[in-house]
Amino acid sequence: MQTTSFKRYRPPALRAWHWLNALALLGTLGTVLLRKTFLSWRTNSAYIQGELQEAGTTVTPELAKAIAVGLRDRMWEWHYIFGFTLAGLLVVRLLTWFFLPKDRSPPLMQAIRAVATAPAGQKRSATHNALVRTGYALFYASLVFMATTGFLMYWKASLGLGEDLVHSIKDVHELMLWFFVVFAGGHVLGVVFAEHRGDAGIVSDMIQGGRRD
Ligand code: HEM
Repeated sequence: MQTTSFKRYRPPALRAWHWLNALALLGTLGTVLLRKTFLSWRTNSAYIQGELQEAGTTVTPELAKAIAVGLRDRMWEWHYIFGFTLAGLLVVRLLTWFFLPKDRSPPLMQAIRAVATAPAGQKRSATHNALVRTGYALFYASLVFMATTGFLMYWKASLGLGEDLVHSIKDVHELMLWFFVVFAGGHVLGVVFAEHRGDAGIVSDMIQGGRRD
């Protein structure tokens, strides 16, 4: 089992999972971007009030806010669609991990141990490999966290959660957004570097599978 290179055969289920997961994650991040920019209720309620005032009509700030929030909420439904998809894909990933054991990447602990046992010339790449695997482990742990906090908020009424608790859950759920922004950017940059430094073809392997040997 290789522990220092990222090139290995990727079975179809894993490849499909990877690209679907990337789409669902980018979709989730996209909904947040829209919520904070074009569909921000603060910006849009001010815009609605301004436009109507210019047209000689008035609208109460409450009504302008209700219209802006209503528009934003239609888009925000997609946060839940992508969010549920991400949670479903997480379950699928667990299943592929259990049912495709020979195609698993080397476990994190094995990659960490390999740093200590690697010969002097391979220490650097073993350390790099252990760091990348730690990043993936953090990614999965954070996804579990996002799905759990997301579901708690989604079903807050049925679960009878208090307003203060929901508020705190929302604060941490929102803060964790930055992990995914850094991870997505770092992941793409890391792949570009790897392509240039000894692991050429990892993107095409994630599309067509790569060599089985
Ligand atoms: C990596 C995945 C996710 C990211 C990056 C993310 C990000 C965010 C952010 C930044 C907010 C705060 C928006 C704001 O108030 O301005 C939020 C709210 C929320 N998210 Fe997520 N989320 C993710 C996954 C999920 C999942 C899996 C669910 C499950 C359904 C979910 C459900 C919710 C709910 C219910 C809210 C509160 C919306 C509101 O109060 O209007 N999220 N999310």
